[in-house]
Amino acid sequence: MISSQKIAFIGPGVMAEAMISGLIRNHTTGPEMLTAAGPTLERLSHLAGKYGIHTTTDNSEAACAADIVVLTVKPQRLDKVFQGLRGCINPASLVISIIAGATFEKLSHGLGQSLIVRSMPNTPAQIGEGITVWTSSKKVSEEQRQMARQILLALGDEIFVEDETYLDMATALSGTGPAYVFLFMEAMVDAGVHLGFPRRIAEQLVAQTVRGSVDFYRTHEDSVHLARLRNQVTSPGGTSAAALYYLEKAGFRTAISRAVWAAYERSRELGKSSKPRDPEEDQAQNDD
Ligand SMILES: NC(=O)c1ccc[n+]([C@@H]2O[C@H](COP(=O)([O-])OP(=O)(O)OC[C@H]3O[C@@H](n4cnc5c(N)ncnc54)[C@H](OP(=O)(O)O)[C@@H]3O)[C@@H](O)[C@H]2O)c1
Repeated sequence: MISSQKIAFIGPGVMAEAMISGLIRNHTTGPEMLTAAGPTLERLSHLAGKYGIHTTTDNSEAACAADIVVLTVKPQRLDKVFQGLRGCINPASLVISIIAGATFEKLSHGLGQSLIVRSMPNTPAQIGEGITVWTSSKKVSEEQRQMARQILLALGDEIFVEDETYLDMATALSGTGPAYVFLFMEAMVDAGVHLGFPRRIAEQLVAQTVRGSVDFYRTHEDSVHLARLRNQVTSPGGTSAAALYYLEKAGFRTAISRAVWAAYERSRELGKSSKPRDPEEDQAQNDD
């Protein structure tokens, strides 16, 4: 039973908060079973005040007492977290990681732990509308997998995959996906402003067009290929035909495909390197 499990979040940032609020909102578990651990007292007080959960600045205190440890730090903080947690987590406890690029090998080696779930959520998880692709190490039991599923449901939909290699693919498609969607929307808004719309109206038109198109697709999802829906709005010699001709000519489809592939290769690279690139360090070096 998930409600009898003590769950510790190591890294009390936006994704941890999304999980905590989703777990409480969905009545998956009670706040008394949740602990968040991190370095900043102000942040911990905010979470304790808002959700009534336990908090601590000591990662090991939270992790050692937990049945399920959820790692929600940034990738560049992981080595430091390993130092504090190695040997402290109960071998029977489950570790769930949402950290981009953190492979089973890295996690099991860093923590000395074999019961691991690796997952890749995405940004809409922050409002419970995400999609998380996840997998588990071989020793994770069916019961633990069900508990992991219930925790990940706090972020939105979830899809279990048998093989870790799908995690890099998911990182490129759904994990990075919101960035492509936001860029596409931004370009449409700018085009609307170029036409002469006030920006506020252009934003409203674009946001509702994207939302409505997704909802419309979802009513047909099982039986209709996306190309058929596109054809429905493309009259011979009409405005959509003119616009789509230009997009195809400009290599729109190829650009998307290459972008997703680039994200996939970068994800694999980050997973292989022992020390993921720290953008803050990069910035500091650039500033020197
Ligand atoms: N955000 C997304 O949409 C998204 C999507 C998919 C996957 N992810 C993954 O989710 C993870 C968390 O992302 P996020 O956006 O939630 O980041 P975030 O908001 O920056 O949260 C990270 C938290 O970790 C804390 N922290 C830093 N050093 C720590 C340490 N040594 N021990 C314990 N806690 C420490 C930070 O505290 P301070 O801020 O006080 O330093 C912060 O509260 C990342 O690994 C990312 O790859 C995020």
